[in-house]
Amino acid sequence: MAGMKTPFLAAGACATLAVALHLPAQAPSLTIDVNHPTGRVSPTLYGLMTEEINHSYDGGLYAELVSDRAIGHGFGALVHWPMVARGNSAAEVSVDETAGPSAALPRSLKIAVTAATDAAPAGVENDGYWGIAVRPHTTYSGSFWAKSDSGDVPVTISLENDSTGIAAAKTTVAGLSGEWKEFTFTLTTGDAALSANNHLILTIPRPATVCFNLISLFPPTYLGRVHGNRADIMELLAAMHPKFLRLPGGNYLEGDHIATRFDWKKTIGPWVDRPTHQSPWAYRSSDGMGLLEYLEWCEDLKIEPVLAVYAGYSLAQEHVDPGPALEPYVEDALDEIEYVSGGADTRWGSERAKDGHPAPFPLHFIEIGNEDEFDRSGSYDGRFAQFYHAIKDRYPQLQLIATTPVKSVTPDVLDEHFYMPAEESFAQSGHYDNHPRTGPKIFVGEWATREGDPTPNLEAALADAAWMAGLERNSDLIVMASYAPLFTNVNPGAMQWAPDLIGYNALSSYGSPSYWAQVMFAANLGAEIVPAKLTGTATRIYTCVTRDRARRKLYIKLVNATSHPQPLTILLEGVGKVAPRAELTTLSGKTPNATNSIANPHAVIPVKHTIAVSGTQFVETFAPYSVNVLVLSYQSEQPIRLIEQSPD
Ligand code: AHR
Repeated sequence: MAGMKTPFLAAGACATLAVALHLPAQAPSLTIDVNHPTGRVSPTLYGLMTEEINHSYDGGLYAELVSDRAIGHGFGALVHWPMVARGNSAAEVSVDETAGPSAALPRSLKIAVTAATDAAPAGVENDGYWGIAVRPHTTYSGSFWAKSDSGDVPVTISLENDSTGIAAAKTTVAGLSGEWKEFTFTLTTGDAALSANNHLILTIPRPATVCFNLISLFPPTYLGRVHGNRADIMELLAAMHPKFLRLPGGNYLEGDHIATRFDWKKTIGPWVDRPTHQSPWAYRSSDGMGLLEYLEWCEDLKIEPVLAVYAGYSLAQEHVDPGPALEPYVEDALDEIEYVSGGADTRWGSERAKDGHPAPFPLHFIEIGNEDEFDRSGSYDGRFAQFYHAIKDRYPQLQLIATTPVKSVTPDVLDEHFYMPAEESFAQSGHYDNHPRTGPKIFVGEWATREGDPTPNLEAALADAAWMAGLERNSDLIVMASYAPLFTNVNPGAMQWAPDLIGYNALSSYGSPSYWAQVMFAANLGAEIVPAKLTGTATRIYTCVTRDRARRKLYIKLVNATSHPQPLTILLEGVGKVAPRAELTTLSGKTPNATNSIANPHAVIPVKHTIAVSGTQFVETFAPYSVNVLVLSYQSEQPIRLIEQSPD
């Protein structure tokens, strides 16, 4: 997490000078020079950053309902797999260290049933991720790997309510033998009540010893993708109008140790060939969200991956020296790029085709490492250069992102991270206003105002919007920006980092006020940056303006971070006519602490109004504690001035 750099004088701060010098207060106004755009808005400005943190995938977006489905090293002593013995039945549940379905998963869940009948079976249960959501009239798809020392013993699988013990759905699987084999099943609920307090039970009706692994259950997923993502969370993401997904981290890319980095080749192919791995965020990842699943997530949202490749540094100060030792990691990155973007006739493109996706994915940006300023060995310059040359040689069209400044080569883009308290986000709204335009482009790959827990409150949303206004005003320089972290499971013990943009439990999800501010900004991006000057006595007002010349639309974003309504005279220069009605979307609340939660997901959400606009000069009053997007339709009074290299 990079800290902030040089402070600057914010637009809001300029407007307070009148007070400081005891000059007469002047009604604030915003003068917009519509016909003299200063640059192009980056069309890829707003996107998403992701990693396995706070149960982002396991217990989050990845729709798997069973926790610790892979019985592997490091998953703990079967905490999620307690024994079930009905009536007079008896069984022992243990980890068999000697028998697993594959070399990647050498262990299994062994159930030794010593007494059981049809009426009183025995087995195991799984509590899911803080419960398992059951919905009425829904079909769940399940599977497991199993082998039996006792011939073809039937396995009954049911979804049962924790408090009533009533099964919402039940089925039986037969055909087990002494050989490991995968079995599939479905569970279909009837009029079951909607609830999150359910568990999955597997039982056996007679004495037998059965080993299991990869016990899995999926609800219907977004776009019906097999083993795909939770529909409610994907819908929240789609509404953000993202343009890219930075994956797979963050610290999760690096791992605490080189051995626990995101080793992409171990995350592809059938689950049975994925060994799972320990993440730096204190729990083990199933790697169900492997490289291909990340790419399919992008495909489902119609966005592009920004692929971060492991660059030879892990968080416990382990690094690989540039030179021959680093070469295998460089080769691994080249293979990864080929897996993502190569034709099905290439070595790794053909692996992707084998994994079920013959078509290559679009790819334009590769990030080399993550936050390598923390590598105290100082090896990043050399490591970056080695990756840079190897990737550019083979893929000259790719834009390469450095995670901290380097001297030996010039990166195309530099990734900068900002985690700030609210006052700093406000103060830094103009951070990039005077940034030189001669160096690499900027990717603000992680940013957030850290107020609110588990998800940001309205104060954070105001500060985030002030910060975003600065990003958008400078989006000739800033090619992409993404908030982090994106997700948290809100259950006690699930979260490692607060705040997080989107919260959820087993049953439902919600967007924080900051989420809604991003939705508003990204839905009204515009194509060109328009100069706007705030004058008069107004503190804590932050703004940026863009236009879409082809559609004759002007997008005015304005944050009123004060506790009072703020009247503002808006002056449109270079405009002949303005449509008499405009659309004003406002996100506001009574106090800066106002927030959303699972219990109250829509306490702070944007509201759209139509407002009357009297001409090219009009007064509009902005609500206390509000983020606003005002969309005006205009006609130019002069021939429209194009900015250089305008695409249209
Ligand atoms: O977003 C949480 C963490 O903050 C990321 O993993 C890391 O890149 C940064 O330090």
